[in-house]
Amino acid sequence: RCGIFAYASFLCERDRRFVLETLINGLQRMEYRGYDSAGLSIEGDEPDQPFIFKEVGKVAHLKEKCMTAAIDMDRSYVSQTSIAHTRWATHGVPSTTNCHPHTSDPMKEFTVVHNGIITNCALSVDKELRLVLEKRGFKFETDTDTEVAAVLAKYLYDSQKGKQISFTSLIKSVIMELEGAFAFVFKSVHYPDEVVVARRGSPVLIGVKTEKKLKVDFVDVEFAGAADAEKALNEDAAPGAANGLLGVPSAANPQGGKLVRSQSRAFLSEDGMPQPIEFFIASDASAIVEHTKRVLYLEDDDIAHIAEGEFHIHRLRKNDGTVSTIRAIETLEIELAAIMKGSFDHFMQKEIYEQPESVVNTMRGRVNFDTHTITLGGLKAYLHVIRRCRRLVFVACGTSYHSCLATRSIFEELTEIPVSIELASDFLDRKTPIFRDDVCVFVSQSGETADTILAMRYCLERGALNVGVVNVVGSTISRESHCGIHVNAGPEIGVASTKAYTSQYIALVMMAIQLSEDRLSMTARRNAIIDGLHELPGQIRAILQHDKEFQALAPMLAKQTSLLIMGRGYQHATCLEAALKIKELAYLMAEGILAGELKHGPLALIDADMPVILLMTQDSIYAKTRSALEQVSARGGRPLIIANDNDTTIDDSRYSVIRVPQTIDCLQGILTIVPLQLLSYHLAVAKGCNVDMPRNLAKSVTVE
Ligand code: F6R
Repeated sequence: RCGIFAYASFLCERDRRFVLETLINGLQRMEYRGYDSAGLSIEGDEPDQPFIFKEVGKVAHLKEKCMTAAIDMDRSYVSQTSIAHTRWATHGVPSTTNCHPHTSDPMKEFTVVHNGIITNCALSVDKELRLVLEKRGFKFETDTDTEVAAVLAKYLYDSQKGKQISFTSLIKSVIMELEGAFAFVFKSVHYPDEVVVARRGSPVLIGVKTEKKLKVDFVDVEFAGAADAEKALNEDAAPGAANGLLGVPSAANPQGGKLVRSQSRAFLSEDGMPQPIEFFIASDASAIVEHTKRVLYLEDDDIAHIAEGEFHIHRLRKNDGTVSTIRAIETLEIELAAIMKGSFDHFMQKEIYEQPESVVNTMRGRVNFDTHTITLGGLKAYLHVIRRCRRLVFVACGTSYHSCLATRSIFEELTEIPVSIELASDFLDRKTPIFRDDVCVFVSQSGETADTILAMRYCLERGALNVGVVNVVGSTISRESHCGIHVNAGPEIGVASTKAYTSQYIALVMMAIQLSEDRLSMTARRNAIIDGLHELPGQIRAILQHDKEFQALAPMLAKQTSLLIMGRGYQHATCLEAALKIKELAYLMAEGILAGELKHGPLALIDADMPVILLMTQDSIYAKTRSALEQVSARGGRPLIIANDNDTTIDDSRYSVIRVPQTIDCLQGILTIVPLQLLSYHLAVAKGCNVDMPRNLAKSVTVE
């Protein structure tokens, strides 16, 4: 979680107001990643005295503080570097003290922003970095894990005084000591107009903006570990790097630290001459796209150095052949409009309303409705392996897990391959047995969820084929999986996932269909599903037209303290997903119940006062669901029923009924979730909750 943003401009006049506005704007675009406090550091009046502003709460509070500060807003810089951060607390309560940027000391010699978690810095274990530094006389001001990185940089710098260590070498030696997952941007008064960006486990990308054409479309990577480079280490690197600060190799630094001074240069101007150029560094593309579409994604263990209008990428480790030696400068394909709210009150509302288009985008170029065929380019080369696998293991968290659950049955039916569905955290806790002939599918909107990524790496180590199903192009899961499907739902800003769910659902159904293409006996079933896919956008549109009716239900439900949502078969996933939406958005105790389990316990909850939503769509188990209605009614319950619009057997005068169009059973969950997404949205609005940023949550969960 958390969002980091940095702005470096070279040879272009930028005044302080412009820099502040750029930083604040960048943070606001990423506020959904974390929003309990925000802070930034810009150039001060003197080169060695940066201004740091911090504020608890939303980025708007920080903006207010900066814009009303008693500083000269017109002060202009030819070159400058500045860093910013929006936080979601993992270590330490939300407060201005714990808010980033963190500094190494009262003189602010080193300043850092960080996304992720450093695991070897807490106070509980005696070998940990913070204790080591405290023993050396350093004082810590905050409860955060991040501060240790800034303090460590100062310690290593001080130990090297007079030796002219480069900023990159210094930060390399810092990173070598850290364990955990992180993305950092460092800035220092000792290295004016330079920033160093480091990544291990948390996403970070760098946008490049210049009036001229870029000379290169890629940046060469400088690897550590060549023999002459190791010699250079002794001249250049900090002592902690050569020996390990703690004197022992750590998990993060298994070789005990081998560093190299950079020799590579990446000229970005066409003629190799210095030119005006700006760099935007961010945790995700939404903060960059309005400035430039030319971006470079850092890989784990990359250290990028930006100075004098150039940037260089260095690696912490020797080249073992598994990591590319170049980083391509790519062109972003998202538009700013796609991440703006438009005429909607909230991003979530906009994203629910986008579903008629987002589902089309998921199918675009992949489904041929005339020939009834599906082509998923990203899986093509691996189809024969997947078809022969022993087992399909789906791994995901939260809403993404529900999309796996929603499509499990169609995978089993069409492919006859055993399917297991795993919550990523539990999958790891159990050290689940995984074998070479397993195919593991990792489903994630962000592609950055720490638990899912760790599960993916766990499966990779065990030789399984890893398939990524992700929405964010360029995300860690999309890059590290063997093959996969981009969900193509477009950027999802609201913390509560909506359009990504329906698109994941469709992507998985498409995958099941493609896998079964060699099974003639399934042809009619496949064709019927593809026909169903064709109708979906129009059917979703029809449901959205009834939004006012769903809104009308919200005030009554908002008064309740709990809510049960029941269904079975294909609708069980809808129940769980709707309950999750209601919990996270309206802070209402909602539980999704498999109707088949009713008489094994939950029925005891039912009386005339317990609010119940029952999903009762017409499929092969309709009669069984109907029996759940009888059981609830017999105990005085009056459920709100979600039924098909052609179901004449339900007495509308007796029950409140939400009607949705009928589609083929395995797609029906896409239509039943839409009214429930809207209902949860209106419930949250009715209760005055923060719809796009529910308390305690963030969009991208990049810590375990
Ligand atoms: C709920 C929600 C979360 C995410 C979960 C996994 O509305 O959005 O439950 O689904 O945190 O995130 P991704 O899909 O990015 O891996």
